[in-house]
Amino acid sequence: MLAAGYQTPDQLAADIAATRALTDRPFGVNLFVPEDSERDEAALARYAAQLGPDFARFGVALPGPHWKDTDFWREKIALLSSDPVPVVTFAFGLPSRGEVDLLRAVGSTLVGTATTPEEAHAAISLGLDAVVLQGPEAGGHRATHRVEDEPSGLPLAELLTAVRATTDLPLIAAGGISTPERVRELLDAGASLVQIGTALVRTPESGAPQLYKDCLATRSGTVLTRAFTGRYARTLRNRFTDAHSATAPALYPQVGQLTGPLRRAAAAAGDPENLHLWAGIGHASARPEPAGVVVRDLAG
Ligand SMILES: Cc1cc2nc3c(=O)[nH]c(=O)nc-3n(C[C@H](O)[C@H](O)[C@H](O)COP(=O)(O)O)c2cc1C
Repeated sequence: MLAAGYQTPDQLAADIAATRALTDRPFGVNLFVPEDSERDEAALARYAAQLGPDFARFGVALPGPHWKDTDFWREKIALLSSDPVPVVTFAFGLPSRGEVDLLRAVGSTLVGTATTPEEAHAAISLGLDAVVLQGPEAGGHRATHRVEDEPSGLPLAELLTAVRATTDLPLIAAGGISTPERVRELLDAGASLVQIGTALVRTPESGAPQLYKDCLATRSGTVLTRAFTGRYARTLRNRFTDAHSATAPALYPQVGQLTGPLRRAAAAAGDPENLHLWAGIGHASARPEPAGVVVRDLAG
């Protein structure tokens, strides 16, 4: 899977070409679906004011917001329809019916992401080929279809059981998976596949900064917070989440644009207290082993 969120279309095209040069086997591209969010300038300004002392401490300037940031959605859909890949997956919402038809016509298998039975049914009604069910245990962003929604706390196994009772489509279970026993349980409960994220972050193949890799092993406690990007995400708890989780507005990706320079400065300074450190609840099990070993151990 190629993570195309936050990439320019040129970067994505280069990654697709590089992947084809490495393998003849199927691969996929994961896209972030943009949302027409409310342009709440006052709420963003209040949060920016609250972050003022943080910016001053790092000596970086507050950036201005880009309200029309769609993460190059149209351009990426155009690229994937003119230069198709075997699989396209969607996070943070669903494509339009027209976009589904376009990508289906060029032969791509389409996979949605859901955090509730209702979101799963929306993906199934749209005619997608499979659905990732992301439980609240997961590291990184909650894939809720609307930014402003409070994320569901329905545990992954219950979400899976509820959706499996209503569909025969392939379901991919994700969130907090860190042992082979857990993989077995989820497959027995009706998952067709399981998906892991945090368990791969410390592998040598991962491009994550060493500071983040180390934090997964040395820190404890995760929280769900809008503080870094405006969209709920599970991260290791730190000073930034303690200071700002209660007040961060539900404005994605604008809060992420705002905190970006601060997070880059914190990373450059080796400061884990002001960084996003995406982590699922099983982060203590993440090991610095090759990705193939991690996957084979879980599959075993
Ligand atoms: C560092 C990190 C980056 C992630 N990036 C993406 C992404 O770009 N697109 C996506 O659909 N999910 C992304 N996720 C979420 C994963 O797809 C998955 O839901 C999650 O990692 C599963 O939980 P786990 O981390 O506990 O294994 C990311 C997760 C992590 C930890």
